[in-house]
Amino acid sequence: MSELVVRRLLIDLEQPFERHWCGGDAFRSALFNALSMSFPVGEQFFIDSVRAGFRLLPPELQERFRAEVQGFVGQEATHRRLHALFNAQLERQGLVNDWEPRARQRLKLMEGQDARHLLGITAANEHFTAILADWMLRNADLLASSDQRLSTLWLWHSAEESEHKSTAFDLYQAVGGSHEWRIKWFRRITTIFLVDTLRQTVNNLRHDGTLWKWSTWTSAASYLFGKRGLIRQTYQPWRDYKRRDFHPSQHDSEPSRRWLADYSDRYTPVGA
Ligand SMILES: [Fe+2]
Ligand SMILES: [Fe+2]
Repeated sequence: MSELVVRRLLIDLEQPFERHWCGGDAFRSALFNALSMSFPVGEQFFIDSVRAGFRLLPPELQERFRAEVQGFVGQEATHRRLHALFNAQLERQGLVNDWEPRARQRLKLMEGQDARHLLGITAANEHFTAILADWMLRNADLLASSDQRLSTLWLWHSAEESEHKSTAFDLYQAVGGSHEWRIKWFRRITTIFLVDTLRQTVNNLRHDGTLWKWSTWTSAASYLFGKRGLIRQTYQPWRDYKRRDFHPSQHDSEPSRRWLADYSDRYTPVGA
């Protein structure tokens, strides 16, 4: 069981930030803005799924998972709250969140489903967030925001995603989720996640007026497929999830631990 600390971030997101907050780069800002737009609805779903899975456990297993589930819920609830503030700024900048209503429609279909399915979906999404988070922490210089509030927001979120990457996975196993369904959900979530990310990034660039700029496309090519590119470096960890003997702890969490230790002045642990 991992010990999950809930941290309050010492940043003020009520104040506006620049449109191209990510290193002055339109593409990177649009991509991260897209991801942020999916967080409040997605993270609420993860919280609900983990709670539903927890309720299915026999009492002795509930005792084992109780503290970890509380930590998970506390961390995701804090992420939701801060990204809602971040997203409110994006709305003021004229961006339009189409991802959230689409996700809400899809999640309606899942109402009343067996908790194992909810956890299968959550574990797959958490794998995505964990490998993305790990990539961000390893390449923090590529985030390159001159606005310290924003680099803190994204790296803190990344550190906690990496920290709690096993919770939904372990619960899925504990409630008897099968390998076959784990892989089925992973394939579906991969398609949905990639299509939604692409659609919302393009949408953001269109509203920003930078979709057809050459610099946007060259930045996309190097950021995704360059030597330290996001897709290039996360492909293998993405694939690992399909192995029968995979467990999220097989991926090293050192960058997360290091960030939390080096930047402990940016947050206060809640309840400590
Ligand atoms: Fe999160
Ligand atoms: Fe998470």
